[in-house]
Parts: sequence; C-alpha cells; structure tokens
Amino acid sequence: MSDLEEIRRDFAERLSLARGAAALQEVRHDFLGRNRGRLTAFLRALKDLPEAERRTAGAEANRLKVEIEQALAAAEDPAAESERIDVTLPGVAIQPGAVHPLTLVRRQIEEIFLEMGYVVEDGPEAESDYNNFTALNIPPDHPARDMQDTFYLEGGGLLRTHTSPTQIRTMLKTKPPLKIICPGRAFRRDTPDATHSPVFHQVEGLAVGDGIGLADLKGTLLVMGRSLFGQRVQVRLAPSYFPFVEPGAEFSVSCFICGGTGCRTCKRSGWIEMGGAGMVHPAVFEKVGYDAERYTGFAFGFGIDRLAMVKYGIDDIRLLFDNDLRFLDQFRGAS
Ligand code: FA5
Repeated sequence: MSDLEEIRRDFAERLSLARGAAALQEVRHDFLGRNRGRLTAFLRALKDLPEAERRTAGAEANRLKVEIEQALAAAEDPAAESERIDVTLPGVAIQPGAVHPLTLVRRQIEEIFLEMGYVVEDGPEAESDYNNFTALNIPPDHPARDMQDTFYLEGGGLLRTHTSPTQIRTMLKTKPPLKIICPGRAFRRDTPDATHSPVFHQVEGLAVGDGIGLADLKGTLLVMGRSLFGQRVQVRLAPSYFPFVEPGAEFSVSCFICGGTGCRTCKRSGWIEMGGAGMVHPAVFEKVGYDAERYTGFAFGFGIDRLAMVKYGIDDIRLLFDNDLRFLDQFRGAS
C-alpha cells in the first residue's frame, strides 16, 4: 500500500510539471505504459502476493489506475481549454425571429374558440375523395366539384381543397354533442394572383347538438368578428350554396376601418367577405351515422390568408408565402 501511495504522489508531481502533449505522453508511459509503467508493474506483481493482500492491494491499484487515467484525460483534452468561457468578452446580439402573420391570426382564432369551449382538431392534407367530397354530399360527377379545382394524387387520393373533411373525420370518431375548429392548409389549382394562392389556409368550425339553430351560428360568428376586429363590427349572412349545408350562406363582417361607409380595405362595399357557413345538411349526418332527426348543427369555413391581409393591410397574398425577411420583420412584436 505504501508503494501505491508513492506512485500516487509521484504521479501528481509529474503531472503538475508536465507542459504540452509530449510531456503528458511521457507521464502516461511512465505510469501506465505496458513496458515501463510503474503502476502496470505493480499490477503485474500482484500475483505473487498472498490471497488476502492481493485483493485489497488490487482494488486500490485499480482505483489509482482510474484516477490517473482521468487526470491524464483532463490534462490532454485541448477542447476543455477552448471551452473555457471568458465572461469579460462583449456579448453577441441575438436577432430573435418574429411570429409569422398567419400564425398570429391562427392563434388568435384558436383562442377565441377555445374560450367558447371548442376543441381544436387536426386532419391530414392528403385526403380521400370520399372525405373531401362524397361524405360532404358532393357525389362523383356532381357539378359542385367544379367549384374547387383539385390536385389529384397518384393512387387515388387528393390534396384537400378545404378543411371541411376534418368535420367528417371528427364526427366519425366522436359522438354528439361536439364543438370543434380545424385550422389547416388547403390546396386548389387556382392561378396565383393578389388574392389567390394554390396553397392557402382555412379554419373550419362545427358545432353539433340538440336544438342548435341559425341564430347560434350568427351569434358565434359575431363573437368571432368582434374579437378579431372590435366591438362595433356587425356580421352579415347572405344566401349561398354549399352542398354540405342547408340553408347555406356567405358570411361577411362590416368593415372595421370605415365602419361600413366604404373604403379601400372593403373595396367600397362596407363589408369584408370571410367565407361560407350554414346548417349541416342531414345527408352529411347520415354519412357519419348521426341521427339526423335528433341532432342539428352549424358549420363554417373561411380563409385565414385573406383575413390576415385585411387585418394587417397586406395587399398581395403572395407576400405571405415568399418568406422575405423585410416583410416578415414588420411583424416583430405584432399581435
Ligand atoms: C369552402 O371551402 C367551404 N368548405 C366553406 C364552408 C365550410 C361552407 C362549412 C359552409 C360550411 P369556399 O370555397 O368559399 O368555401 O372557400 C372559403 C374561403 O377560402 C374563401 O372565402 C377564401 O377566403 C378562401 N380561399 C378559397 N380559395 C382560395 C385561394 N386560392 N387562395 C386564398 N384563399 C382562398
């Protein structure tokens, strides 16, 4: 044991004097080297000791070996030196990113509906023809399919043309009553221009239960419109046609800039068109196995890109997809 203590002491002294990789290498050879290492020689000689001594000396020698290896490794690692932090150096300014305007609007919409007890649902962008059209009361060859020019996928699927198929998916897995919104991307073979993009974003809403009526739909849209644009805005429903709702409507909010008298934002009409809405068609309930005699519900869907454009005064939808930092930087700190 006193031999081991001596090795330990000598090693500590040699290590403290060693400068540079070559000197450390020498120390390593002198203590752990296969031929001339002092500790190696000690370990080798253990076999000549009586059993009881061999055990304690062996354990201690192995402990020392680990100690020496760790001390050498720490001294040899140049990374350890370069990783030392000089806290006196000046800092590097970090440029934080800004939240994308579409994300700002989507989050705001989600918050409005979460407060009203809605659940946010998600659905796939690659959909079946059945969920995107047939289950929504648009059978094959129905002329309403032409209203949404579709990207078809090899093998039979398609890129969803609206977020409405998520209604179907949710109703198939959930019993009524339910209240959901489904934000997400939609795809149409529309030629890009200032207000059209082949990839755009929608939010779908669906509420199903006992005794839900058109007034509930209008009230819900009014809460949303006022939360987004201020307490003075009004909501308007005008008759329209979507095969999956009856009656169906286009819904608009009164212009939050001019208050309805007409300006550039509302194209002099006093109203900002948001999207479609209506009472869920009984044929859709039948497709998902809901009792159409008992339950009623409303649904709505609108574009988030157009909403973000109106809200932030963006005059070309393509700006939302170009990812030009000069544009995106303007939303730093926006809400
Ligand atoms: C629909 O997609 C219906 N699914 C909405 C709906 C849901 C009606 C539930 C009834 C009940 P529409 O095709 O009108 O409806 O599209 C809705 C909105 O999506 C439009 O008002 C517009 O804001 C947006 N939109 C449609 N095509 C594009 C496009 N190419 N680029 C940007 N926004 C678009």
